[in-house]
Amino acid sequence: MSRVVAENTSPARDRLSFFQRNQSIELSSAAVTGASPTLGQLLKSVGDVRKEVTGDETPVHQVLDLSDTSLEPRSLPFALSFNNLTYSVKIRRKLALPSFLGGRSNHGPPVTAEPVAGENVFRKTKVLLNDISGVARDGEIMAVLGASGSGKSTLIDALANRIAKGSLKGTVTLNGEHLESRLLKVISAYVMQDDLLFPMLTVEETLMFSAEFRLPRTLSKSKKKMRVQALIDQLGLRNAAKTIIGDEGHRGVSGGERRRVSIGIDIIHDPIILFLDEPTSGLDSTSAFMVVKVLQRIAQSGSIVIMSVHQPSYRILGLLDRLIFLSRGQTVYSGSPMNLPVFFADFGHPIPETENRTEFALDLIRELEGSPGGTKSLVEFNKSWQSLKRSRAPDTPTHGLTLKEAISASISRGKLVSGATNTNASPTSMVPTFANPLWVEMAVLSKRAITNSRRMPELFGIRLGAVMVTGFILATMFWRLDSSPKGVQERLGFFAFAMSTTFYTCADALPVFLQERYIFMRETAYNAYRRSSYVLSHSLTALPALVFLSMGFAALTFWAVGLDGGLSGFFFYFLIIFASFWAGSSFVTFLSGVVPHVMLGYTIVVAILAYFLLFSGFFINRDRIPPYWIWFHYISLVKYPYEAVLQNEFQDPTKCFVKGVQIFDNTPLGQVPTALKLKLLDSMSATLGMNLSSGTCLTTGTDILQQQGITDLSKWNCLWVTIAWGFFFRILFYFSLLLGSKNKRS
Ligand SMILES: Nc1ncnc2c1ncn2[C@@H]1O[C@H](COP(=O)(O)OP(=O)(O)OP(=O)(O)O)[C@@H](O)[C@H]1O
Ligand SMILES: [Mg+2]
Repeated sequence: MSRVVAENTSPARDRLSFFQRNQSIELSSAAVTGASPTLGQLLKSVGDVRKEVTGDETPVHQVLDLSDTSLEPRSLPFALSFNNLTYSVKIRRKLALPSFLGGRSNHGPPVTAEPVAGENVFRKTKVLLNDISGVARDGEIMAVLGASGSGKSTLIDALANRIAKGSLKGTVTLNGEHLESRLLKVISAYVMQDDLLFPMLTVEETLMFSAEFRLPRTLSKSKKKMRVQALIDQLGLRNAAKTIIGDEGHRGVSGGERRRVSIGIDIIHDPIILFLDEPTSGLDSTSAFMVVKVLQRIAQSGSIVIMSVHQPSYRILGLLDRLIFLSRGQTVYSGSPMNLPVFFADFGHPIPETENRTEFALDLIRELEGSPGGTKSLVEFNKSWQSLKRSRAPDTPTHGLTLKEAISASISRGKLVSGATNTNASPTSMVPTFANPLWVEMAVLSKRAITNSRRMPELFGIRLGAVMVTGFILATMFWRLDSSPKGVQERLGFFAFAMSTTFYTCADALPVFLQERYIFMRETAYNAYRRSSYVLSHSLTALPALVFLSMGFAALTFWAVGLDGGLSGFFFYFLIIFASFWAGSSFVTFLSGVVPHVMLGYTIVVAILAYFLLFSGFFINRDRIPPYWIWFHYISLVKYPYEAVLQNEFQDPTKCFVKGVQIFDNTPLGQVPTALKLKLLDSMSATLGMNLSSGTCLTTGTDILQQQGITDLSKWNCLWVTIAWGFFFRILFYFSLLLGSKNKRS
């Protein structure tokens, strides 16, 4: 036991030894004054060393010089403490059959869930985290270890405030003060396990966009560029800076580099707390080591780094400052990696010299989990060991800084570059929720969307192709329609089909957002930008493509089909097609915000559009629609553009569509010789007492509109209503994003 006391695990001393180990790194004034160096200072020092060692004279990227190093000497400004964290979920209990009826008796390994008071026959409570406590300090990496399913991700989520308030018991405090969700969001970052990045942007562009979101407008573009360059060096991405991220279809950076880019975009503003869920998973040992090395540097710049890791290699273990081993949601070891051998020796299972410490520990834990007593003995032993350690070597006293003072000191040393002001405000209002105003966010988002679509011109190409092919088929099928009664029928058919295809061709907007959704959620979860900026820029950047599509379709069909109205008629025709594209794409965008899968999305789009067409008034006029379905007629998106184009076509009161003997077309009398038809017309004239000659106009455009039941809205009103539908669905899209991206466990 005496060895425990002999080992001084004071983080301050650890850090000192780090600097001593790296004596060649000549620390700047911060180290002289004793304050922990910022990211920038460290980078500068690393650069100096590089110059000395390699003679490399390439300019080292200077970092933002926001630091005020005249601060009083002081270390350890931040400590994130968590006490008695307990989190359980209710799960449905399977109805177990008695064993004599074939139900399996429970001889297998004990279930994770332990019975808890209050559970009933159908539900039981599963404890995912059980009374977990600890402290993470800045300058250190705290690693959460454990087998798969032990609760590592759950613990990180609990610390990162990603579990709903009511469900998580226990407290998480920063410097002894309760952490408000809003404050935590702006001072921390969460690096998810998946690399959610835009495949067609280069590493440098990806980081630059992140800098433009995260760093305040007050910072000049050149400073943002410098920050990005410094980060590229720090992340070891210099050689990959100009390479695209890539995906299955395009070769891009390696997995390890992608991982580091993911970390880079979240630390661009130098957050105070950094959470990472398995940042090394899927990487080879060298890449994994480089990632953790980067994390160590970030920690040393004055951040708290908390990460989960599956099985750290020996070298990685050397970079970790504090470990928490979990087994089925309980702490089985908590402390420095150096103390592992002592701990397990005291527990009666000394780690053999040749073994990897963590592997040994994980194997032992797994063995205990399989034994009848479970890990209870180890959990108990850890508790007593911890209290003994505390009594012999009390915790280094905390610095006595309030949260506000600590954040404020941190900001003035160049951290948290998010437009924060170092004023006397409360911690929550000291750091702005968003680094930039709405219009800056919109501009950056639009720029990114345009860059992305420029890199993937085939997406727009396919869309344009689909619209033009449809237009071509329609133009040739309905080539130069005449104004006979048959021609009128064909015109009605053309309009109904054309207006619904404009909606169908919008369905390709569906996968676009579904793909982007996870990136959007990652970015908005930690306030990179407002959701409203996203919706606005998404709508704006969609417009130019819609103008092209509608112009192409209108030009291809208007004269080919022989539509009426001349140039002004064409202009309105173009406007209404544009409006339907707008409404259709808004509708599809909204759907993409609520449906989880592309296939489900397509199914819904196709079905709903078919109903819209059915109720549009083409198949059955409004006055014939049963009263209980009439509401569907009014919400049919196809109704409005369909009525608008019909009015545009049949608005000329002088134009005639049924003249003289044409009255017999489409009737059994249509087949009789013209001479006989003329005789019939004469006798009808005599009977009706009016003069019906072969030149008499019997049906005008107005009559056709009357027959079709198109009487309630003018064509311009139809246009406005269509455009309004588009806005309506965009607003719904906004709400779907607001409600759908809560990003918290219940
Ligand atoms: N909503 C839930 N309902 C029931 N059980 C859950 C729920 N969420 C998580 N669990 C369980 O909680 C346990 C811990 O999950 P967690 O994701 O934290 O494990 P982990 O240690 O991160 O594992 P891995 O290394 O595989 O990522 C697992 O057994 C998991 O099945
Ligand atoms: Mg996990």
